[in-house]
Amino acid sequence: MTFGFFDDEHKEYVITRPDTPLPWINYLGCQAYFGIISNTAGGYSFYRDARLRRITRYRYNNVPFDLGGRYIYLRDDGSGEYWSPSWQPTRHDLENYTCRHGMGYTVIGSRYRGIEAHTNYFVPLDENLEIWQLTITNQRSKRAGLSVFSSIEFCLWDAQDDATNFQRNFSIGQVEVEDGVIYHKTEYRERRNHFAYFACSGKVETFDTQREVFVGPYRDWERPVGVERGRLANSVAHGWAPIGAHHVKLKLEPGETQQIIFVLGYHENPQDQKFDPPESQTLNKKSVKPVIAKYLDSTHVNTAFEKLRQYWARLLGICQVETPDVHTDRLVNIWNAYQCMATFNLSRSASFYESGIGRGLGFRDSNQDLLGFVHMVPSRARERILDLAATQLPTGGAYHQYQPLTKRGNNDIGGNFNDDPHWLILGVAAYLKETGDWGILDEPVPYDNQPGSEQPLYEHLERSFKYTLDRLGPHGLPLIGRADWNDCLNLNCFSDTPGQSFQTTTNKDGKVAESVFIAGLFVLAGRELADVAQRRGLAEEARDCLAQVAKMEATIRQHGWDGEWFVRAYDDFGRKIGSKECLEGKIFIETQGFCVLAGVGLDDGTAVKSMESVSKYLATEHGIILQQPAYSKYYLELGEISSYPPGYKENAGIFCHNNPWVMIAETRVGNGDRAHDYYSRINPSAREPISDLHRCEPYVYAQMIAGRDAPTYGEAKNSWLTGTAAWNYYAITQWILGIRTSYDGLRISPVIPKSWRGFKATRIFRGVTYHIIVERAGEGNQVALRVDGVPIKGDMVPLPGEGRREVLVQATLS
Ligand code: BGC
Ligand code: NOJ
Repeated sequence: MTFGFFDDEHKEYVITRPDTPLPWINYLGCQAYFGIISNTAGGYSFYRDARLRRITRYRYNNVPFDLGGRYIYLRDDGSGEYWSPSWQPTRHDLENYTCRHGMGYTVIGSRYRGIEAHTNYFVPLDENLEIWQLTITNQRSKRAGLSVFSSIEFCLWDAQDDATNFQRNFSIGQVEVEDGVIYHKTEYRERRNHFAYFACSGKVETFDTQREVFVGPYRDWERPVGVERGRLANSVAHGWAPIGAHHVKLKLEPGETQQIIFVLGYHENPQDQKFDPPESQTLNKKSVKPVIAKYLDSTHVNTAFEKLRQYWARLLGICQVETPDVHTDRLVNIWNAYQCMATFNLSRSASFYESGIGRGLGFRDSNQDLLGFVHMVPSRARERILDLAATQLPTGGAYHQYQPLTKRGNNDIGGNFNDDPHWLILGVAAYLKETGDWGILDEPVPYDNQPGSEQPLYEHLERSFKYTLDRLGPHGLPLIGRADWNDCLNLNCFSDTPGQSFQTTTNKDGKVAESVFIAGLFVLAGRELADVAQRRGLAEEARDCLAQVAKMEATIRQHGWDGEWFVRAYDDFGRKIGSKECLEGKIFIETQGFCVLAGVGLDDGTAVKSMESVSKYLATEHGIILQQPAYSKYYLELGEISSYPPGYKENAGIFCHNNPWVMIAETRVGNGDRAHDYYSRINPSAREPISDLHRCEPYVYAQMIAGRDAPTYGEAKNSWLTGTAAWNYYAITQWILGIRTSYDGLRISPVIPKSWRGFKATRIFRGVTYHIIVERAGEGNQVALRVDGVPIKGDMVPLPGEGRREVLVQATLS
């Protein structure tokens, strides 16, 4: 069953009924001002940081789902009847409901009793504001007299405090209203120099800024008393809950269309120009008024929207493919790339599942997000790398996250994840391959943001590598610390107290438990580092690095191989995890995927065996399960992983993030059929026909699909913000389609299904457009290349000479 359809031409997913199984969301904004918006206009906005600069309020886990948003009410002033064209919050039976989620915008609308109303919500590029462009058409045969009401609820900036500190917050709310513009200025008098505003292009008849007055005592957003009455009360909020609501009256002749624009924005004033007049406590609106005036004008709004469209056309145009599989094309060309932008911007902070207050930007997560983003806006990737590296600790270790507003690392969600530092090496290598910007390695970057501690970025990479060498366990494998990639494998936690956080509690000194996963990661990161060192002219460092890698590979062979697959870890008692010796959790996906993608076991047959085991024990029709058999009880020595019921999350869920590791591993052993088959099993577009089972959005990946041990096998959860986005993008574009960035050029090394006759692609790389045509002449993966008609050896298309902007690459597979 489906709830809409893909409109590939317009790069939209069109939802055709409002009652989707879960709110199906989109992101507004892609630079500094952001919002999430659901298919019924639910969601919230923030500036840079979903926790520290929350602009509007949203209540997570509400009943019904997803209440609180960018709501418009229409009221027929003839009959007094009112409804919301986005369905929520009044939930009337609408005709022609559609929600078009597109690239950075969402259009929601419907028809009700002959009144057609659509709102285009978007954030113009380079602005800290969002537009709601409402278009209303009277399709009745008679003139219609309507009242239009807008509504938003302001958050008192720090979303955590806003949701908890009522004894203070009920007394601090402040607004100003001038010329129909509602300004939200809570805490502006003292330590803030920012405020929000909500403006409207229509003639504002009445307004409200106090929630209780607009909604009415003991009422809710479904039946606001002001809307029911057809007139607002011009309330000015003093404390309690400041909101913004405008009231505009319209007269529409039959067939007539009118537009109203609402602008919700964020603005900062210089510290010494906060008030006007300066000695007053009144907001200085001088610099914001021109911005408001500009965007209340539909010409500017239309231009801004067009610019947004062009922006996305350009970004997506960097890599376009034409394969025999529509789901591959749709994801690569549109949605997966788009999702990579969201994960890059927000890491795991703000989605329908991430409340915006739990987590900032993760060190591990953000570095991986670069894999799918770096080709789109390399300058922002560069900035992110330097920000991340600046939070690195002098030991080479890392804070697990930092707040985007302050750019300072913190331990709020734990520390000592011993895999963290290596992801920096992988992120930087991906950036270098894409851009060739070797200068970044010389950038002075502090440790722990301490002035005076600056060292070249390259030195940070060396410390990342050394971090593991300083922390080897009894078998010579890396100590796991709090956990590795799998946050829930907490081998030093031993938590037996209710409410303790698995992510922050430690009861063992951590000198025994080891991770085979980090060993695989070390091998991959070490090879990347050696490559970088070699090219920096540091041959000896490169040699040392490779020697350590070789040693680690030998250790994996000796202590990390279980006969048919790679072991996962050793616990605090030195016992194997992820081995046939275990009663449960005998085989894990992470070490199979990661060791093989790192190249471990390619030369001795173990890689192939490991892949066979994945296929035999872990692969299901809905994707590859994290481990089997699922843990049926809580194991004190394993931590959070065994706290989940079987089949969910890290306990034998299909954790989509690590499925692409196996896809890449399959390409490394040359199995294109399997690689693409695994790709298709979790491809959200391919799963669209089972939307009633999958339940999450069919246009983006979810972190997890319930595994076969779960009663809800096949149901997805935690969509949007997941490493799944970047890794799948990387797996399909660089390994299956095989268009791989490298230091010396673009490698063309596809490992595609045997049944594919070929594919076409366009890739812009270092300013050059590569037109790539791949054709099958035989069933294998052997590549013969012709570059601009001239045969060349190997699979590397070297960088063309100065001035060349277009290159034709023909690849024949045999
Ligand atoms: C989740 C993980 C997540 C971790 C850290 C755990 O509850 O299962 O997927 O990475 O929390 O936030
Ligand atoms: C989600 C986290 O964001 C990521 O960092 C982690 O690797 C996975 N969960 C697995 O636990």
